Amino acid sequence: MDLTGKVAVVTGSGRGLGLAYARALSAAGASVVVNDVDRQAVEAAVESTESAGGKAFGVTAAVGTAEAAEELVSAAVEHFGRLDVLVTNAGILRDKVLWKMTDDDFDDVIRVHLRGTFTCARAAAVRMREQGRGGRIVLIGSPAGQRGNFGQTNYAAAKAGIAAMARTWALELARSHITVNAVVPVAATEMTKTIPVFAPFIEEAERTGAPLPDWMRRQEGLGTMEDAAGLVTFLASDASAAVTGQAIGIGGDRLALWAHPQEKKVALREGGWSAEDIAAAWSDGVGARPETFGIPAPQPPAGD
Ligand SMILES: NC(=O)c1ccc[n+]([C@@H]2O[C@H](COP(=O)([O-])OP(=O)(O)OC[C@H]3O[C@@H](n4cnc5c(N)ncnc54)[C@H](O)[C@@H]3O)[C@@H](O)[C@H]2O)c1
Repeated sequence: MDLTGKVAVVTGSGRGLGLAYARALSAAGASVVVNDVDRQAVEAAVESTESAGGKAFGVTAAVGTAEAAEELVSAAVEHFGRLDVLVTNAGILRDKVLWKMTDDDFDDVIRVHLRGTFTCARAAAVRMREQGRGGRIVLIGSPAGQRGNFGQTNYAAAKAGIAAMARTWALELARSHITVNAVVPVAATEMTKTIPVFAPFIEEAERTGAPLPDWMRRQEGLGTMEDAAGLVTFLASDASAAVTGQAIGIGGDRLALWAHPQEKKVALREGGWSAEDIAAAWSDGVGARPETFGIPAPQPPAGD
């Protein structure tokens, strides 16, 4: 995949998946603006991204404000002349069950993920529309946003909102030939290590140096950070010109197209539905096969 001449911004690319995306884009020939909240992480990421092939420039800023978004787009334009690709990857977790979640837990996660994605995409869309040569906006969702997840009120809400924004912006930016998709990654990172259900498997792999087991890579779609980067490179490229408005899962050996919400079962009743009508008809009608929710717990094969 050749991204020579293209300029990308990857938020939260000081480590983890963001750094893997920045390195992959750089290896494909793109110039990359890397970003994080920590200056040292940014400096190391610039070096790491340049060692992958292309040029890199670092911006230390906390994504979430319009000012930070402007700074990132301006850095791309000032240092590399234009902006072709935005990857909104910056993120934090503040997991707690609903009744223990504080206002700050909620606001912090919404600010970085949802507001950060909105402000960066808005600044990028303005610039890409001015350039008049299309563009690629790659948002980062999560299985938690697609399905709901225990302890992740704030994060699931932000990530579901991000998937909804991808569909909305795909409509709004189609005429400008700017594609917008949501990547739904799973990978062994610092962030996943804080999720109890994944932690022991990742720690074991780190301790022994062995790869994550096959069943995790195939069934759970959980692998290395680099496993997730090919999809971002594809979505950044000319090869994905026709792909927009999609939520696409990636991780381990797994690539998946997520379904969008749609009416699954419909019943019609002339004059509408009273509460009593619904109660009488629910179990054999619209409610006969209710939807499941939540991310299914990992299922190691027997004996693993
Ligand atoms: N790891 C997974 O399996 C997984 C699954 C689904 C979604 N994701 C998403 O992928 C993205 C990256 O996750 P990760 O696992 O690499 O996490 P990570 O914690 O390893 O990396 C996130 C990076 O974002 C940076 N960051 C945090 N707040 C920021 C801000 N305001 N501005 C700029 N940078 C900021 C952090 O400093 C960190 O370097 C996140 O959006 C996450 O929600 C990850």
